[in-house]
Amino acid sequence: MVRTQLEHIRTVEDVVSLLRRSRHLIVITGAGISVSCGIPDFRSQNGIYRTVDCEALDIPSAELLFDIAYFRMDPIPFYKFSRTFYGMTPIQPSATHQFIANLERHKKLLRNYTQNIDGIERLAGIGKIIECHGNINEFRCIKCKRRGDAPIIIEKLLNYNEIPKCSCSSYMKPEITFFGESFPKSMKKCIDKDVLKCDAILVIGTSLKVGGSVMEILKQADENVPQILINKETVQVSPKLSDGFDVTLLGQCDEIVTYIETRLGWREDSPSAYQCNLVSERVFRVFPSNVETTISTDVPLTGVHSRKRKRKA
Ligand code: OAD
Repeated sequence: MVRTQLEHIRTVEDVVSLLRRSRHLIVITGAGISVSCGIPDFRSQNGIYRTVDCEALDIPSAELLFDIAYFRMDPIPFYKFSRTFYGMTPIQPSATHQFIANLERHKKLLRNYTQNIDGIERLAGIGKIIECHGNINEFRCIKCKRRGDAPIIIEKLLNYNEIPKCSCSSYMKPEITFFGESFPKSMKKCIDKDVLKCDAILVIGTSLKVGGSVMEILKQADENVPQILINKETVQVSPKLSDGFDVTLLGQCDEIVTYIETRLGWREDSPSAYQCNLVSERVFRVFPSNVETTISTDVPLTGVHSRKRKRKA
């Protein structure tokens, strides 16, 4: 069945009133929400997959950094690469992490399903969180599954370039779901339960390119549950699944959620400090009024479905 866009959710105003009344929001997040924390995303121009120096790391392609078969064969490229990440301290949550924590504080959050492995949600105080792709700050042996002592492993990696090994002499791996590994069973169980209860879905800072994890939420949710996208660029959901998000808010996610918080009355600053420009049907660019934006050159519209499709059984 192909989900069709909802007739009653098509403007920024509709999104604001939806968030005002929502009590069981599912928030799906991706790497875009940690970019302002200094962590690049994966697939943008400046993203990890485009900027990693494969020659220096001695790998044929950047995607292999997160490939389980490759890691088992040679974990050195992954650990060389991840030293930069472990060396980044202290990391502060972004305005978007804070926004999700505020949704929880205001009893609106059913669950935040994050694809991020940086663990910043916990720093922001988000309790209702599922880390769909695991966490880079916990370690386990790839053979005997014994847990590693994270602070010691990270310290040795940073100071002595030591690749972590278990007492059984196999390698330790951070508890990230690498390509080739299955997603946590707890995630699937939680999705099955949450889709029955959720009253709106907010998708923030993700290209939705990875199937099998958060995509299951969009696949399983009731077709009448509103789906809103907040992202720097439009995101194309498979046309087999839906004819697009009900509303897309384009721009820096931190700015967009700050604007939303002003509209919800959660901040003292005025909503008039922002502009919401219509880009195309159901797609708006949201930005601070004191920032100039050139819509015609800045916004890729190729992913927007504005065409109506008949619902198929
Ligand atoms: P991607 O890099 O694929 O997508 C990030 C999205 O965030 C892109 O659409 C960007 O345009 C958008 N974006 C970047 N900065 C933004 C900002 N400041 N405000 C709003 N939007 C912004 O990252 P993910 O979709 O998270 O897997 O990638 C999913 C998975 O693919 C990751 O979890 C990772 C990777 O392989 C593992 O680590 C196992």
